[in-house]
Amino acid sequence: MKISIIGTGYVGLVSGVGFASKGHDVTCIDIVEEKVDKINRGEPPIYEEGLEELLKDVVSNDRLRATKDTEEAIKETELTFICVGTPSKQDGSVDLSSVEKAVQDMVQPLKEKDEYHVFCVKSTVVPGTTEEKVLPILDRSGKKVGEDFGLGMNPEFLREGIALEDFLNPDRIVLGGWDEKTLEILSKAYEKFEVPKLKTDIKTAEMIKYTSNALLATKISFANEISRICESIGIDVYEVMDGVGLDDRLKRDFLNAGAGFGGSCFPKDVKALVNYAKEKDQETKLLNSVLSINEEQPVHIINRLEYVSEGVKGKKIAFLGLAFKGGTDDVRETRAFPMITRLLELGADVIAYDPEASENFNELLPGKVQYANSREDALEDADICIIQNDWDEFKNLTPKDFGHMKGNIIVDARRVLNREEFTDDFIYIGVGM
Ligand code: UGA
Repeated sequence: MKISIIGTGYVGLVSGVGFASKGHDVTCIDIVEEKVDKINRGEPPIYEEGLEELLKDVVSNDRLRATKDTEEAIKETELTFICVGTPSKQDGSVDLSSVEKAVQDMVQPLKEKDEYHVFCVKSTVVPGTTEEKVLPILDRSGKKVGEDFGLGMNPEFLREGIALEDFLNPDRIVLGGWDEKTLEILSKAYEKFEVPKLKTDIKTAEMIKYTSNALLATKISFANEISRICESIGIDVYEVMDGVGLDDRLKRDFLNAGAGFGGSCFPKDVKALVNYAKEKDQETKLLNSVLSINEEQPVHIINRLEYVSEGVKGKKIAFLGLAFKGGTDDVRETRAFPMITRLLELGADVIAYDPEASENFNELLPGKVQYANSREDALEDADICIIQNDWDEFKNLTPKDFGHMKGNIIVDARRVLNREEFTDDFIYIGVGM
């Protein structure tokens, strides 16, 4: 199939490369010339595991190319995925300006095209958006949905960092379509994926995406709430969740207590759903709590440290992990931000280290934090160490790795260490125990 994809962020590019690797002919569209040139040279403008290799392969086999020319790409292909960003506005609602701009550029080629064409939204949008905001723009072409063109919604469930792996081996594929013909064409695009495919209407597909992210975020806040109870009685929430997760109905995944959820998806999507529900005059008591637990959790961890260390004023804190999770340089909504902000308010002296995210983090708190070039440098003479994310290099460190610290307090905010090893000489503060 000839597929075009508009937007070459991690969703668009990963989907493009994934479809091309499954034998489709893919054209990626982006307004940024530099990105287009890079992709055409086989160089991904973003980092995702395995992406560079596969991109080089599909570009050199002429299965994928990039262009700035939306009109040409729409005319040359039969299916277009819209994968542009949908950031949050100040009030938590979704900013659709990139989607609207991208769709406006599709009106003219649709007008001039004789063949049937399917437009499919992959960007995360609240229920109703595809039919109420995207369709009216396409209608300006004078063509008729269901006759001259199809309309669909196909949410993505890709995790940043392992997005290519998630695209190639999904748990399920959700296809929302205006009519049977649209669903048929969308199914053809996913023909080679042997996983359950749910075919439904467009609004339901849009809602499945929000509901999935909201439930995953709920599991995390639930684990964090239970973790505080466990801390107060001296048992380990990880062991509790291991026991809970053995029940097939209660999968163990996403029940890891920690510093809370960050990133560009969970906080934004839960807020957008809350905001959307309000517009529909619906209360969201559970989701409000999910968000407030997530706001409190980083502060709770610092308060606990304050109590154990009898204050952090003037103390040197080695802060390991600035990205919202390991394996990325993304600091959007990272829990490192509220934690470090609180530490600075309390008068601590923070020396931070992250393998990739220091530069991005410095933009959030310009000049407020010192950065070390290595984990070892950060730990040198530190009174306290806090681990905020799960980079491989933070996992399973042993007491020897902390040998150059002056103090002996370790806060394991993501539970990446083997706590059994940190008994005698250390004060180990693990979240949820
Ligand atoms: C998330 C979803 O997992 C994807 O399925 C979805 O497609 C994506 O959002 C999206 O909507 O685009 P992502 O934001 O990349 O993916 O990150 P996750 O790996 O899901 O982690 C999110 C946050 O939750 C991180 O801060 C992580 O540390 C935290 N987390 C995760 C926990 O605190 N506990 C857990 O048990 C799991």
